[in-house]
Amino acid sequence: MKLDRKEILSALESISIAGEGKNMVESGAVQNVITFGDEVVVDLLLTTPAMHIKKRAEVDIIKVIHEKIYDKAKVKVNIKVEAPEKPQIKGKSIPGISNIIAVSSGKGGVGKSTITANLAVTLANMGFKVGVLDADIYGPSMPIMFDVEKSKPISVDVDGKSKMKPITSYGVEILSIGFFTSPDQAVIWRGPMAAKALNQMIFDADWGELDFMLVDLPPGTGDIHLSIMQSLPITGAVVVSTPQAVALADAKKGVAMFQNESINVPVLGIIENMAYFTPEELPNNKYYIFGKEGAKNLAEDLNVPFLGEVPIVQSIREAGDYGRPAALQTASAVQTAFETLARSVVEETVRRNDNLPPTEAIKITTMAGCSAVKK
Ligand SMILES: Nc1ncnc2c1ncn2[C@@H]1O[C@H](COP(=O)(O)OP(=O)(O)OP(=O)(O)O)[C@@H](O)[C@H]1O
Ligand SMILES: [Mg+2]
Repeated sequence: MKLDRKEILSALESISIAGEGKNMVESGAVQNVITFGDEVVVDLLLTTPAMHIKKRAEVDIIKVIHEKIYDKAKVKVNIKVEAPEKPQIKGKSIPGISNIIAVSSGKGGVGKSTITANLAVTLANMGFKVGVLDADIYGPSMPIMFDVEKSKPISVDVDGKSKMKPITSYGVEILSIGFFTSPDQAVIWRGPMAAKALNQMIFDADWGELDFMLVDLPPGTGDIHLSIMQSLPITGAVVVSTPQAVALADAKKGVAMFQNESINVPVLGIIENMAYFTPEELPNNKYYIFGKEGAKNLAEDLNVPFLGEVPIVQSIREAGDYGRPAALQTASAVQTAFETLARSVVEETVRRNDNLPPTEAIKITTMAGCSAVKK
C-alpha cells in the first residue's frame, strides 16, 4: 500500500486547531508530510504549548488519516512548538508586569469575574504569563472561581524584602482581597484603604514576570473606583455588559469613567456577555434572552472596539461555582469563544501600546480618596 501525500494533505484540511480560524494546512501548522509505503509522518508546528491542544491535534490527524485514507496507516506526528510573538511592551510602569488590564462593568452581576477567570486561563494556555488581582472589595470571587478559597498567601524573601507570594491555580497567579478578609465579615472599605490594600497586593507581592495582570473590579463607577484606578498604572480597561438596556446604560457610564480626564485609562473595548442562549437539543437556534447585539451596538456608538461575545452556557455558571473555569474544557464551544475573545484582547493591547504612552499612576494625596494629583 503506497499512500499519496497530496490526498493526505487534503484530508488534513478538514482539521482546525483549537482557537485558530483556518485549517491546519492553510494556517501553515502542517510543515511537512512524508510517506513511506503505509507509513505517514506529519510535522506539525504549533504556536501554543498547551498539552490538550497538542494531544487533540495528534488524535485528529490520526483519526482523519485512518478514516479518509487508509485505516491501517502507521501515523507518526512530530510536534514542534514555537510561541507567537508576545505583545510589545513599552515603558512598563511596574517592573516585571507588562500589561495591567482592568475588567469592569457599570452594572453588577453581568459576568466580570466570570470573564476575568476564563480570560486568564485562556491567555495562560496561549503561553502568556498571567496574574489575576481580585480587587472586588464588596464580594471577591476569584478564590471560589479558582478553587483556592482556603489558601493563604505566604510571605517570601525577595532581595531582603518580605513579599506576598500569589497563589497559583491552573497556571494563573492570583491575589485576592478575599484571602485577607473572612467571608462572613462585612468589611467597610473607604477608597484610600482599598487603594492601599491593592497597592500592597501589586507592589509588595512577588508576581514574577507577567505578560498580563487582569484586575477584577467591583461593580459600579463610584469613588472607590476612582481611588483604585488612580493608584494603579492600568494599561487599558475592558467593559463587560449584557445586551440588556439597563446594563448598557451602566456600561456607558463605565466607559465614560475611564475616559474621564482625571482617570484617562484607554478603553480596549466592550465584551458582550450572556449574548444568547442555545439549547443543547436545538444547536442551531439562538435565543436572545437579554436582547440582541446591544453591547456590540454600544461599542459602535461610543467608537470603542467590540471585543467579542460570550453566550449563556450552563457549564460556565457551574464551572464558576465548582472552581474550574469553563474555558479549560477541551475542544468545547466555550473554550473556542474565550480563545477568540482573548485574541482580540491581545490585539487591542498591542495596538494600544503601539499608539499611546504608558498610563501614569496618580498618587492619592488626601484621605478623602477622590482628590488626587498627578505624580
Ligand atoms: N456566560 C455566562 N453563562 C452562564 N452563566 C454566567 C455567564 N456569565 C456569568 N454567569 C453567571 O452569572 C453570575 C454572575 O457572574 P459574575 O459573578 O461573573 O458577575 P460579576 O459581574 O462579577 O458580578 P459582581 O458585580 O457581583 O462582581 C454567576 O453566577 C456566573 O456564574
Ligand atoms: Mg464579580
